[in-house]
Amino acid sequence: TKLHQFLQHLPKCEHHVHLEGCLTPELMFDLAARNGVCLPDTEKRPEFGSPEALYERYEHFTSLDDFLSYYFIGMSVLQQQSDFEALAWEYFQKAYADGVHHAEVFFDPQEHLNRAVPFETVVNGFVAGCRRAETEYGMTTKLIMCFVKHLPASDAQKVFDLAVEGGHFESGALHGIGASSSEVGPPKDMFKEIYATAHSKGIRRTAHAGEEGDPTYIEAALESYKSQRIDHGIRLIDSPQLMEQVARDEILLTVCPVSNVKLRCFDHISKVPIRTFLKAGVKFSINSDDPAYFGGFILHNYCSVQEAFDLSIEEWRTIAENSIHGSWVEQERKLELL
Ligand code: ADE
Ligand code: ZN
Repeated sequence: TKLHQFLQHLPKCEHHVHLEGCLTPELMFDLAARNGVCLPDTEKRPEFGSPEALYERYEHFTSLDDFLSYYFIGMSVLQQQSDFEALAWEYFQKAYADGVHHAEVFFDPQEHLNRAVPFETVVNGFVAGCRRAETEYGMTTKLIMCFVKHLPASDAQKVFDLAVEGGHFESGALHGIGASSSEVGPPKDMFKEIYATAHSKGIRRTAHAGEEGDPTYIEAALESYKSQRIDHGIRLIDSPQLMEQVARDEILLTVCPVSNVKLRCFDHISKVPIRTFLKAGVKFSINSDDPAYFGGFILHNYCSVQEAFDLSIEEWRTIAENSIHGSWVEQERKLELL
């Protein structure tokens, strides 16, 4: 595509990628066999017959919840610390090849805990993958722990307490908190207490909002959670007033254009409000979300946006600079990235 070389070399920061969303069908089948995990019965679910059949099914997600049902089955193959490390390392290799210099990555510990995988197994595995990327590639990385909205808030409180009591925020193993999974349905402020505690401890805060849900979800994340970023945030286009506030307060949106099309938030990538946000001075970064499920990593997202919008070099520089400034990384490192 046009500007492919330029986009490849543009120094990129990724702020919105779920490590469990980097699990390819190939690795899923491999780990299922190695760990003796049963995937769904292929009599009833033929798409679990082969990686090819799964990839085919991934072409037809009907909604966020339809995708999430596959995402939660997929991650059930992760058992050993080395599985988590291998998954993270697979992501960093692809991200590095795509020109990512700094990556802030999400994970969902509650799902693993519910399968009796210890918290430390998950964290130590992912941290090992992060350290390897730092050592071998000179990347900077941050791990952000997400709470999932389809499980009780008390489960989220448990993993937050484990992280705090284990000293994982203090040590720098974990850098922030987020909230993900189903949007419409659960209470908009279900993690209010946790976010308040995190705020008082100086822990960074982001939250998925305004992906399938209306702008009141974004408003709730900003007000009840004091969220410093909004993941997705595309429904901001339905509230010019809130959009103005987000621009003024320099809240970074972590936009995932390919994900939005795959999960039917928009019927075409040209409907993602890239130009609207640029014009309104809303800062955003471009991200991959769940690249193994959506057919491409971060560069695919950059190139798809370019195909649809034909942005100028100047506009791309603005996007790249905003994503560096919006990164949760030391000022010194930002200057290096610029
Ligand atoms: N978990 C993984 N991907 C997600 C998405 N796009 N929205 C909400 N939760 C998620
Ligand atoms: Zn996401």
